[in-house]
Amino acid sequence: LPQKKTAPPTSKPSCKDCREKINKVLEQYSEVWKKQDERFQKFRSQLSTKCHGVEKATITQANTPVGSKLVYDGEKKRTLQVNPEIFSTFFKGHPFPNKTWHTCAVVGNGGILANSSCGKMIDSAEFVIRCNLPPLSNGYEKHVGIKTDLVTANPSILLEKFGALMGRRRKFVESLHSYGNSLLLLPAFSYGHNTPVSLRAFYTLEDFESPVQPIFFNPGYLHNLALFWRSQGLRTIRLSTGIIMTSLALELCDNVQLYGFWPFDFHPYSFQTLTNHYYDDRKTKTKFHAMPDEFSHLLRLHSQGVLKLHLGDCK
Ligand code: CDP
Repeated sequence: LPQKKTAPPTSKPSCKDCREKINKVLEQYSEVWKKQDERFQKFRSQLSTKCHGVEKATITQANTPVGSKLVYDGEKKRTLQVNPEIFSTFFKGHPFPNKTWHTCAVVGNGGILANSSCGKMIDSAEFVIRCNLPPLSNGYEKHVGIKTDLVTANPSILLEKFGALMGRRRKFVESLHSYGNSLLLLPAFSYGHNTPVSLRAFYTLEDFESPVQPIFFNPGYLHNLALFWRSQGLRTIRLSTGIIMTSLALELCDNVQLYGFWPFDFHPYSFQTLTNHYYDDRKTKTKFHAMPDEFSHLLRLHSQGVLKLHLGDCK
């Protein structure tokens, strides 16, 4: 019998499905945007009441003295009592001096940023936040900018790219040159296995006299932030770095602009296929993150005038 012809199985959706989906998303999106100050202040005050990001987002010697008990936010039963050695790695002073910045750019790593020409606009922000040590040179600069005031580093990158910092460490220090003297924010106390590698990152930067300033996320802040977003209706196992940094920016900055947030396979305007990141096509762990759901919350905040989400090119 002749074989019945069926379409080959494909993991990627075809753009027929995507147009409908994207148009639905875009129905709620307008390029024309005006900040709604009352809405902004209300959201900021809800956030700061529940999370106190300005004071508590990061661990400092002032907010976490020797003897404090840290409760890991990813492993509820794990705790760590701060001893003098660990304490000596905590940030001295206040990473966010008591003022708010006028404009902050939070740069997600979405493929939507590739060829966007948004570099200049991103760099014009007073404070620029980036996620997970993204590459900035080799042609990316025009599209993502170079200015960095704060960059996060997921310990999994340290494990995969720099041999968990168990061997030679120069390559790691050199790879941070493009971030100047920015803060390097590490989730050292989210999971037990994050702690030793984060401490090794700290010691490496100190030993090599790197200008980059390592600092640790406060697990209590991450816990409260997860509760906050749950109370907003977001169901996810782990918040993504992007929504964490956006939340912090809403407390620290009077104007929050987002770039590189678009967790879909096709460009919203050209409908061309996109890679997951602007620099590679490594997929997001959907088991932990719910980026499309997070995105609909960010879209809501955009349409309420709380923050500005950039989706188009910046030409
Ligand atoms: O660490 P994580 O896996 O959360 O993030 P990433 O893949 O390094 O990207 C940084 C952030 O950009 C994410 O946390 C998302 O918020 C955002 N992103 C996005 O909105 N769309 C994408 N296609 C990729 C990342």
